[in-house]
Amino acid sequence: MSLVLFGPPGAGKGTQSQLMLETKPFIHLSTGNLLREAIQQKSPLGIEAQSYVDAGKLVPDSVVIGLVREFIEKKKTSRFIFDGFPRTIVQAEALEKQIEEIGAVNIQRALFLEVPQTDLLQRLTGRRVCKNCGAVFHELNNPPKKSGFCDVCGGEVYQRKDDAAEAIQTRLEAYEKSTAPLKEYYIKKGLFVSIDGLGSSGQVFGRIQTYL
Ligand code: AP5
Repeated sequence: MSLVLFGPPGAGKGTQSQLMLETKPFIHLSTGNLLREAIQQKSPLGIEAQSYVDAGKLVPDSVVIGLVREFIEKKKTSRFIFDGFPRTIVQAEALEKQIEEIGAVNIQRALFLEVPQTDLLQRLTGRRVCKNCGAVFHELNNPPKKSGFCDVCGGEVYQRKDDAAEAIQTRLEAYEKSTAPLKEYYIKKGLFVSIDGLGSSGQVFGRIQTYL
């Protein structure tokens, strides 16, 4: 089965995806990671996406849908965790259409991570990410053992540009306008599950596991 993991910026989608991958053989599809890779490689798509991502705006649907389609076709599996995709109703409809066309992916549940805005701000402003392997830390809740360096691979740990205060505000607004309506969309499809995203990442993971 495949799962959609969605929620506001900083809700813990990346963190919970990593924990799920440790116990179940999913393929992780994070559109945020795919876009950041494209930006780092300075590919044509990355160059087009950079100004949107840095400012915290949503990248146009057509760009993201093309990226996801290419990823799904390459992987030849039916067990995905979709992290940060879909993020608009247009993207959700495109995903369904691709499922029909490719016949490989079946969404079993859309898990929504529920976290209040004050906690989101605290999580995002303190987040640090490994430049090399993408491991996620938090300067207060989960700092790397050696300051500035990744526990997993020793790579340099940095603060994402879109974790600056202004970009966070833009991301929260984009979430309210374009992504929050997906709750209703998945409720109507009978796929929606709300997960309390507060507590330690282990506690949240426990809730997801109990549910699954
Ligand atoms: P993306 O990378 O998807 O960013 P996001 O949705 O804003 O989500 P985040 O990565 O910020 O947060 P998260 O929920 O994964 O939380 P995390 O686990 O890191 O997208 C970036 C940009 O790309 C977008 O703004 C947009 O421009 C573009 N984009 C991507 N997908 C797109 C799409 N489909 N369409 C159009 N544009 C798209 O946790 C955050 C912090 O909290 C970490 O420090 C972590 O250690 C900490 N933390 C996690 N869990 C807990 C916990 N339980 N308790 C305390 N701290 C915790």
